[in-house]
Amino acid sequence: IEHSMSPLIHNDAFDKYSVDGVYLPFCVEDNELQQAVEGMKALGAGGFNVTVPFKSRIIPYIDVLDEFANEVGAVNTVVIKDGLLYGYNTDGPGFIKGLLTITDRIDGQNILIIGAGGAARGIYFALAKTGVAKIDLANRTHISAEQLLADYHGNLNSRAISLKEAESTLGQYDIIIQTTSVGLADIHASPLSLTELNQNAVVCDIIYNPLETKILKEAKDRGNKVQNGVDMFVNQGALAFELWTGVMPDTERMKQLVLQQLGGS
Ligand code: ATR
Repeated sequence: IEHSMSPLIHNDAFDKYSVDGVYLPFCVEDNELQQAVEGMKALGAGGFNVTVPFKSRIIPYIDVLDEFANEVGAVNTVVIKDGLLYGYNTDGPGFIKGLLTITDRIDGQNILIIGAGGAARGIYFALAKTGVAKIDLANRTHISAEQLLADYHGNLNSRAISLKEAESTLGQYDIIIQTTSVGLADIHASPLSLTELNQNAVVCDIIYNPLETKILKEAKDRGNKVQNGVDMFVNQGALAFELWTGVMPDTERMKQLVLQQLGGS
């Protein structure tokens, strides 16, 4: 939480839209979630974000859970109104808003998600509603991908595959979304080889620091369209800001602030 860029984008937006608000980071100890939630309510906060490891553990404290957040089983945004906690999940929808800025077509597309953790889950459930042709999941641990697919109750043509299988069948995917932590600490690490990548495919990584992970660099060098995690970060934040204030902020401005902070252009 010490490195969160959320205060930067939200405080700038409060200022820009003349909203009398302030966004502050609080590091909550693992065993103090309940006290933190009660404290927020008691202090009259208008809302808050929730991050790892509390996105699922916050749910028992939510009074009114949004349908999508309930489906995903994770909340990242809470609105406090008249003493009640309303829980939402803007991660998956934020990813889709970002994706739509580099491709105008999601429906009918073949999608590969690399990873099966919390982030993959939100993105899978959000994409599943957009009319995609299929979403396969490639994960190091097969059972986690199988579990994610089993938790989705809709009718979607999805398979859980190994990273090796994904490498050899990569050519069939139009959109590839990297959601693992590979590439975060080690800039020379990539979860899979892009040798079979379709030249028209879009490659996204939800990591934004570094701005260019190895997989994105490889895809860019091959001439593919790429997107890093700044767009998802900014759009999940913008959707949260709208839930708190009723104002949809300028996401391009938020993006430039984050890029400045991270040393990008
Ligand atoms: P998040 O909430 O950010 O998605 P997470 O739930 O811990 O984080 O998920 C991390 C993802 O990165 C998982 O898909 C994990 O794969 P496993 O299910 O096999 O653990 C993936 N991951 C982490 N380190 C990895 C590595 N070295 N190689 C391949 N996948 C890795």
